[in-house]
Amino acid sequence: MAASMNTQLPLDGELEKIEINLLLEGIYRRYGYDFRNYSYASIRRRIWHRLRLEGLENVSSLQAKVMHHSEVFHRLLGDLVIPVTEMFRDPDMFLAFRRDIIPLLRELPFIRIWHAGCSTGEEVYSMAILLNEEGLLHKSRIYATDISESALQRAKDGIIPIDRMKKYTKNYQLAGGQQSFSDYYISDHGTVMVKPFLRQPIVFARHNLVTDSSFNEFHVIMCRNVMIYFNSQLRDQAHKLFYESLAQEGFLTLGGKESISFTPMAGRYEACNDKYRIFRKIR
Ligand SMILES: C[S@@+](CC[C@H](N)C(=O)[O-])C[C@H]1O[C@@H](n2cnc3c(N)ncnc32)[C@H](O)[C@@H]1O
Repeated sequence: MAASMNTQLPLDGELEKIEINLLLEGIYRRYGYDFRNYSYASIRRRIWHRLRLEGLENVSSLQAKVMHHSEVFHRLLGDLVIPVTEMFRDPDMFLAFRRDIIPLLRELPFIRIWHAGCSTGEEVYSMAILLNEEGLLHKSRIYATDISESALQRAKDGIIPIDRMKKYTKNYQLAGGQQSFSDYYISDHGTVMVKPFLRQPIVFARHNLVTDSSFNEFHVIMCRNVMIYFNSQLRDQAHKLFYESLAQEGFLTLGGKESISFTPMAGRYEACNDKYRIFRKIR
């Protein structure tokens, strides 16, 4: 059966491992993106996904295309970064954040928040809405970063896909939203765009958690559903970066399947809300 018709991955052999390592090394040296320490199983799935879409037989043939045709690299890059996100994703987490963390942030004269791996911005705009409803947006600066230029451009544009509105409205309500979700966007000729006042305190910038260093001190760092794609070495490295970038008693929020246990930083945080993965830096 042709590879493009087969939805099963082929047996994961030694040869394929060599090919994948060479492809990732080539991407790093040719384009500067370093995926060498991402979770192998996930990277392998994404590579095979692209390979089949390109109608290719094996990883080496994808490597040749990627090396010589930057448009193929950019298509593969789009697969490797996995930009899946939504507004008020895991609404209970936002509810817990509102209930448990906001009262502590309220005491600060100025609040700096970093969304690391913000994708197309939905998580960031959710935070801006929450801060607005709690009367804290005017004294907040939100730094929204991602490795992907195209995701960041979409985040800056602030366009919400119209087919997601029903889901986002429901998430907003479940997250404890106090107004009508429609107060936060403008609808025009089938396009839905977040209102400019939500964008105003947000700085969007490219930042690579693998190769870039700390750039400020934050009271909250949200890095949700990003490190899940890293291997343990890279995860430890990112945790070190977050620890160094957090103010004393600052908060780190992870995705539902992510943890701080078994990282070198485990003893340096206390769990504020274990269920929703909200941790506080204690030393
Ligand atoms: C699954 S999305 C998560 C988006 C959002 N945080 C959420 O939970 O809905 C993962 C994001 O991490 C970004 N990412 C992957 N590797 C990264 C890296 N090394 N540095 C910064 N961002 C990265 C991807 O581009 C993608 O936008």
